[in-house]
This record gives sequence, structure tokens and C-alpha cells, in this order.
Amino acid sequence: MNTRPLVLVVMDGVGVGPGDRYDAVATADTPTFDRLRGAGVYQEIFASGTHVGLSSDSDMGNSEVGHNTMGAGRIIAQGAKRVDDAVLGGEIWEGAWRDVVTRATTGDGTLHLIGLLSDGNVHSSWEHLLLLLDHVKADGVQRVRLHTLFDGRDVEDRTADQYAERLEDALATRTEGTGLDWAIASGGGRMVTTMDRYEANWSVVEAGWRAHVQGTARPFTSVGEAIRVLREETPGISDQLLEAFTIVDQEGAPVGRVHDGDAVVIFNFRGDRAIELTRAFVEGSGFTGFDRGTVPDVFFAGMTLYDGDTNMPPVRLVQPPTITDTVSELIARAGLRQLAASETQKFGHMTYFWNGNRSDPFNAQTETYIDIPSDQIEFDKAPQMKAAETADYIVRALQEGGYDFLRSNLAGGDMVGHTGNFDSTVLAVEAVDAAVGAIAAAVEAAGGCLVVTADHGNAEDMVERDKQGQPRASEGGQPLWKTAHSTNPVPLYIVDYSDQEWAAVDGVDAAGLSNLAATLLTLLDLPVPENYRPSLVAVARNSG
Ligand code: 3PG
Ligand code: CO
Repeated sequence: MNTRPLVLVVMDGVGVGPGDRYDAVATADTPTFDRLRGAGVYQEIFASGTHVGLSSDSDMGNSEVGHNTMGAGRIIAQGAKRVDDAVLGGEIWEGAWRDVVTRATTGDGTLHLIGLLSDGNVHSSWEHLLLLLDHVKADGVQRVRLHTLFDGRDVEDRTADQYAERLEDALATRTEGTGLDWAIASGGGRMVTTMDRYEANWSVVEAGWRAHVQGTARPFTSVGEAIRVLREETPGISDQLLEAFTIVDQEGAPVGRVHDGDAVVIFNFRGDRAIELTRAFVEGSGFTGFDRGTVPDVFFAGMTLYDGDTNMPPVRLVQPPTITDTVSELIARAGLRQLAASETQKFGHMTYFWNGNRSDPFNAQTETYIDIPSDQIEFDKAPQMKAAETADYIVRALQEGGYDFLRSNLAGGDMVGHTGNFDSTVLAVEAVDAAVGAIAAAVEAAGGCLVVTADHGNAEDMVERDKQGQPRASEGGQPLWKTAHSTNPVPLYIVDYSDQEWAAVDGVDAAGLSNLAATLLTLLDLPVPENYRPSLVAVARNSG
């Protein structure tokens, strides 16, 4: 006997928080979580920092590293850390970087640097950007244009002006008195400019293309003016949503559109939100994302590999880690049938990241991937997102039978948490709770086992805090709402409705997301590889 069907639900961004009035998970009415907690194993596990292969324990978790770690069953130095090591250790400057410099210093080539202006270390790093600028200078690149995406999602919101000023200072200190021609040429908030993911909304990338490449987005004469005017027009607007813009000169001409012969580098290291713009630059006439007009003939490089299946981009500054023998690969090899179903915003998380950066099933005969289309609106406007639809899908699949391992991601805690809207986040968590409740009932009816966890924290701590952990307030005395993830642990519930006998293993050292894969294999009655971190449960074989 075993615990099949085994169902895993990842509640994106639902960590274990302080339980105060800024904790949207504790504030939400969550009868399912309360019930599950008493019905099986409940444990809090690590989901940030070195526990998920990041450089330091002050690094908050994120979905890429969380799903990579859950799927890999090991702690693997992540893309972020790989790139960090290559940049700080200097290895990056020996590879494709030389070709970038050659192109940018030949003829009237310009070097374009496009990326997220942030020190959130989720998609990009401030330190990498500064080191890039140092090397650009040392390598004698005369003309540089920066295309800056504002964050407000992995860093404190409404700080875009500060990051823009810091960048302008960094450019000024490096160019003063040198005759170098470096400038910011375009920008916009990341959720409306360039950084769409999983093809949820190509018009976001199109807006970026107009701003960065064609120079035809809304014109401003400086980045400071752009931020000021856009904020005046929509008071309280989040940095993520600032409209795409192009910087123009006195005559109204763009200061840095992309031309034939230029070099273009995306300095984001995380792939999900970098791949679409990459494809717009690299793909030929088969590209269907949007009408690109004339595509400039450029030398394009990404910070690292953004998509292992399509080998994109073909040129990258740092080679990525390869993750093999992930849990779903092992389950596929064992011949069991698997279903992955998530809404678009997290679809690649449950497939691509989960599978060690690989999009396709290991065995198309035994694996089914379902993408439930996400809404194309700001997520606090419909905070339930597709929780109910996703649950319905899993429930139906359980009723019909046929799958041994089903996995799903419920996006609301994270996506709505990122808006900084507390009340909406509470509603999102309640929708997640209801969806887990529906799935739990179906797992019970099927006599299977339910595992519920999260990839990182977000919704459980919705306020910016000072170093002592005290909530910070805005100038008007309102709470300073936080949009970013956290370093909090996440819950792990295991509730078994089969007649399998098993028990939680006590004393597993620093239990975290990396222990999940072995736990799932154990519940599925499959062998656990030696290099996996240990299972959190041990099954006693049941004769029945
Ligand atoms: C995003 O890309 O939305 C955030 O930067 C990180 O969120 P995720 O890691 O939960 O996807
Ligand atoms: Co998130």
C-alpha cells in the first residue's frame, strides 16, 4: 500500500508570520488551515537564504529558488548565487562579455543595458550593475544607454526616484571629465513594462519594446521628470505600475533607441521575466508575441541562461547550474503518472522551475501540464485569482482518477501580497484556504495523501519594519505597506487519508524546502537518492 494519489499544493507566498495585525494569513479566516493542522503533521520549515541556495541568510526566498529547491530535493547553488560568484569572482569578464565589448566599441556601436533597477536580488542585483559599469568603463565603451525598470515589488515601494538618483550618481562618478557618453534612455514600472512572464500579457513587453528599442513611448526629458509627473497623475501609484517612457532630447528625439550594430545586455539573472524580451530580440520571423516593426540587428547577451529547453539566450555572460534527477524526473522514471496544474502566473514555477529549469515533461505519456489562464488585471482587484478554478481542476482529476502524483500552485498569497494591499491579501488567503479545503475533501474521498506548503513568505508580513522589527509608518502616519517577500519560514501540512502507517521523523537538521522531495518520494513508496536531503516522514510498511 502507499499513499497514492499524493497531492501537493504550494500556496505561493503564504509563510508563517508574527501573528500581528500586519499578518494577512493570521488575520484571514482560514478554517481549512486550522483543521488540517490538527489532522496530521504540521511543521514550519525554512524557505529563504542559504536553505534555498542563496548567498546569505538575509536573502528572502522567492519562487524560482523555492521551486528549484523543492523539486531538486537538495540545496543547489542557485542561478542568483552562480551569477553572483561569477561577477564577484571576475570569471564573468572572460567569456561572452569580451564579444559584447567588441561590438560596443566597433564603429558607432552603443551598449544598451536593460534590467530591473533594484537591490532586491530576486531578478537583478545592484552590485552587479555597478560592477558592470566599472568594467564598461575599464573596457573603454564610449556610448552606453541604460533602460531602467522600476521595482517596488522586491524592494520597498515608492523608492523608484531614489534608485534612479543612485544610478544617475553612479553614471556621473564614472563619466565626469572623461568625455564618455552614458545616459539613461528609457524605463517604466516592471509590471507594465517589459517584465511579463509565462506569456501572460505580451502587451507589457510591447510597451517595453517601444520604450527601449523604438524610442516611441511617452516622452520625458529625464527619468526624474518621468517619475514625478507619473506620480502626480496617479497619486499613490506603485513603482511597479509606472507607465513606460522614453527619454528625449531638447528636439524631442529619443536619446537612446536601439540601432543596428549595437550591443544589448539584459542584466537580470532570473529568467521568467527576462525571456520574453530576450525572444523579441533574438527570434526570427516566427516570433508572434507582438508586432516588433523592424528588428535591429544587435549583438544580444543575457546575464545567464533564461530557458534551458530553448537554449535562450544563445549568448549569456554566465553559464547556469544544471539540475538533474529532480523529483518529478524520478517519479516519471518509476512510471507513475503526474499532473501539474497552475494558473499562468505560476505555471512555469510548477513545471520549469520545479523540474530544474526544464519546461517539457520528462515523459509526455505519463505527465500532463495544465495552464489555467490568469486574469490580466491588477491582482488586488480580483484577489481570489484562479484559486477556485485550480482547485476544481485538481478535484475533477482526483474524481476521474489516473494520476499518482498531482501538484499545483495557488498564486494569490504572493501575487496579491505583492500589491501591498492588506485587505485584498486577506481575501486572497481566504480563497487559498477555501481551495485547499476543496482539494482536501477530494483527496479524502480518493483515500490519498495531501501535502500543503509554500515556496516562500509574503502575505504573512505586509508591513515594512525597522531593524528592531517594529512596523514603519508613512509620513501620513499610515502603515508603510510592504510588497516584497520575507525570510519567514513556511508551513508544511501532511494529512494522510490512506491506510498507510507512517510517522514524522524527529530531529531533521534545519528542515526546509529541500526536504520536501524526499518526503514526497517516501510517501509514494519510491526510493530516495542518497544525495537528497532526508525525508521528514518515515513509512512503516502496512500489510493491508
Ligand atoms: C515577481 O517576479 O513577481 C517577484 O519579483 C518575485 O515573485 P515570485 O518569486 O513569487 O515569483
Ligand atoms: Co512573489
